[in-house]
Amino acid sequence: MKGLILSGGKGTRLYPLTYTSAKQLIPVANKPVLFRVIESIHDAGITDIGIVVGDTADQIKAAVGRGGRWGIKITYIHQEHPLGLAHAVKVSQDFLGDDRFVMFLGDNVIQGGISELIEQFAASKWNSQIVLTRVANPERYGVAELNENGQIKRLIEKPKQPPSNLALVGIYMFDHHIHQAVDNITPSWRGELEITDAIQWLVEHEYQVYPYVHRGWWIDTGKREELLEANGLVLEELTPVVEGYVDRDSEVDGRVTIENGAEIINSVVRGPTIIGERTRIVNSYVGPFTSIYHDVVVEDSEIERAIVLEHSVIRDIPARIQDSVIGRNVTLARSPIKPKAYKMALGDHSQVGIL
Ligand code: G1P
Repeated sequence: MKGLILSGGKGTRLYPLTYTSAKQLIPVANKPVLFRVIESIHDAGITDIGIVVGDTADQIKAAVGRGGRWGIKITYIHQEHPLGLAHAVKVSQDFLGDDRFVMFLGDNVIQGGISELIEQFAASKWNSQIVLTRVANPERYGVAELNENGQIKRLIEKPKQPPSNLALVGIYMFDHHIHQAVDNITPSWRGELEITDAIQWLVEHEYQVYPYVHRGWWIDTGKREELLEANGLVLEELTPVVEGYVDRDSEVDGRVTIENGAEIINSVVRGPTIIGERTRIVNSYVGPFTSIYHDVVVEDSEIERAIVLEHSVIRDIPARIQDSVIGRNVTLARSPIKPKAYKMALGDHSQVGIL
């Protein structure tokens, strides 16, 4: 069995972060979402993984490499334009051949247990397996209608009037019949070849598509709030490890991971939280659901429920920073130079909330 990860797209809903970085590389609990996806496929014993890349190909390749660090083989597949998930399957036909495969969206974070599902499909005779979960806003997703026996009656992409609250999660398993399906569908109203339509084609042609209803959490990290939510959920499941240094004047409680070379000086850190390599927390408070990536300085400040990316500095901020995502190489500090004013250099699409 092979793995196929979709890692194209522009990530417009995460601007300005995604002006400079692929959305799949934004870390959740200090690990890029894409790495989490690779690891969950690898956990199922799959070592031959294709990654479909678009505009951000160079960054993805630089971050992931050839797969050596996981002991797997990575093949990059170029999709010139983001013309839909079924189109991504089309451009991957040479890589996939006639093999069964699992397709995973590179920006989805799901609670554990998926590897069993993949293994189950590998050993089965089903033509496809899809993963469904109950959501509050099904009109934003592909939606499944099941019959009284729990079999798929119909699948519709982003229906105005959803027939159920069962959304298609971004994890799909297929055998080679999917290639025939993607060749037989036409673009949707949004101009994309929808994988939902291809699976509907399989159902209509009496191929066996097995629906699995996932009961844990699942997050498509398209927006800031979803990113923060995913971060909190992953942090809650992380086994805390303290490799860095905590001085005697500091208090660390709850599920707190302190990575190698990090220093906590005269500060309070409350978990679930992760402090990255070589990051310094000095005279500060770091509250629950916070991930601070590597080489960051937080000094004389308070921060809670936030993600801070590498090489940023937060210094001497009078109010607590909360519900925030802070990019790379950002400086957030009090300015000693008069006039007393907010002085900012913000990128396009930045959002700042002032007291
Ligand atoms: C895509 C699929 C949709 C699925 C969703 C999961 O939507 O088309 O069926 O429910 O991923 O994240 P998109 O992100 O392209 O709007």
